[in-house]
Parts: sequence; C-alpha cells; structure tokens
Amino acid sequence: MRRPTTARPPHPSTASIHPPLVRHVLPPSPAILTHLQPAGPNGLSTASPASPPCPGCDTGRRAALQRLACGAAAAGGLSTAEAWSAAEGPQPGDWLVSVDADTPVPLTVADLKPNAKQQLAWPFDPKARALRDSSRLNRVLLVRLEASALDAPSAQRAAEGVMAYSSVCTHQGCDVSAWREQEKTLLCFCHFSQFQPAQGGAVVAGPAPRPLPALPLRVEAGRLVVAGGFSQPPGGHKA
Ligand code: FES
Repeated sequence: MRRPTTARPPHPSTASIHPPLVRHVLPPSPAILTHLQPAGPNGLSTASPASPPCPGCDTGRRAALQRLACGAAAAGGLSTAEAWSAAEGPQPGDWLVSVDADTPVPLTVADLKPNAKQQLAWPFDPKARALRDSSRLNRVLLVRLEASALDAPSAQRAAEGVMAYSSVCTHQGCDVSAWREQEKTLLCFCHFSQFQPAQGGAVVAGPAPRPLPALPLRVEAGRLVVAGGFSQPPGGHKA
C-alpha cells in the first residue's frame, strides 16, 4: 500500500539560497513558447526542441533554459538557414506599417513614444500597395530615443530620433522581443543577448556575434520612410 506523502518544510539552508537564484532566471519569452506551437503560416516548426550545441551560451545555472530556447530556435528553423534576398527586403521609399495594423497605415514619428519599448513593423511598398512580408527577416523594430543620445552613425540613420533595426537576433534568429527601459537596450530572451540601439545596435551582453542590422530612415510628408537597405544581412548564424 502506498503511504501518503507529506510536504516537508524547506530546509533552512535551501530556503535561504533559492529566492535569489529565482530572481536571476528570467522567464522564457512568449516568442519561445510560440516557437513550440504547431507550424503556422510563417513556417514555424512543431519539431521537438532537441538540444543542439549552443555556441556562446552560458554554462551556469541558466544553461538549461538557454538549451531549451536554443533547441526551439534551431528546431523551428529560426536560425540562419532562412534565405534572405536584399532584392525582396526593404527598399528605399518603402513606408513602415505596424505588424498589428488591420490596414496598412504608414507610421509617423509621433506614433513612437520616446524611450519606450520597440514597435514591430513591416516595410510596405507604396507603389504595389503590398507588405514586404515574404520573409520574417524583413521585419523591423522601431525605437525612438533622444537624438542627443545617439552616436554619429546612428544619428545619421535615424529620423528625428527614430531608428529601425532587424527584429531578428543575430545569435540564432529568435525575435528580439523585449526592452530594458533603464538601460535602453533591446533584449532577446532566447539566450539573453542585449543590443544598444543608440550605438548602432551593438551587442552589449550575451552570445550574439554581431550588431543588429540597421535600416536607415527619413521622414517624408510626416511618414517614416526607408532610406536604404540593411547595414548587414539580417538573421542569426547556424548552430
Ligand atoms: S537567439 Fe540566442 S540570444 Fe537571441
């Protein structure tokens, strides 16, 4: 016969250790959870998150969560195996429209709150009246900072403090989905890479090997308009 189990009080030593550890482990992002769902129109896979090698990941206590994310990213085809063509990417003269918009209304500077979390946008071809959404690598994030906070190359690419970067992490291709308000950095939850938009999308933490590709902008008739191509091809690298 099975004996009833009784909950034991935590050992005083572990009770004093665990709370600080828990505070240091960030929860998995919605992006990670999304990547584990059945395949959708953007081609995300249902393959199980195996544990491929994860170059640059921590070997400490966050490693298990990182391996899960790493496996999800690789299994979902989010790494770099995605083909991207500059000819089908954002083009000079494209408008930018919110990914959440039901109808493609061009974004303006005023739509971006200064120092606030990034907004996601698709390039929009105003002549063909079509989104350039054939690849998720075309998707950009927009942030607005004080113009005085930007380094010279970022200021040159920005339009009234608004900057556009690829929304795809250069590590293994997860979405750069979070914003650290105090530090004003962009965060990828998969392996905690952080990028500094005021300094050309430079990597300031984590395993990402290169900055987020930047997209130059200008303002035309109040609209945010693409002024050139990505500074580098968007996407992560192969595990
Ligand atoms: S995919 Fe690894 S840190 Fe972003």
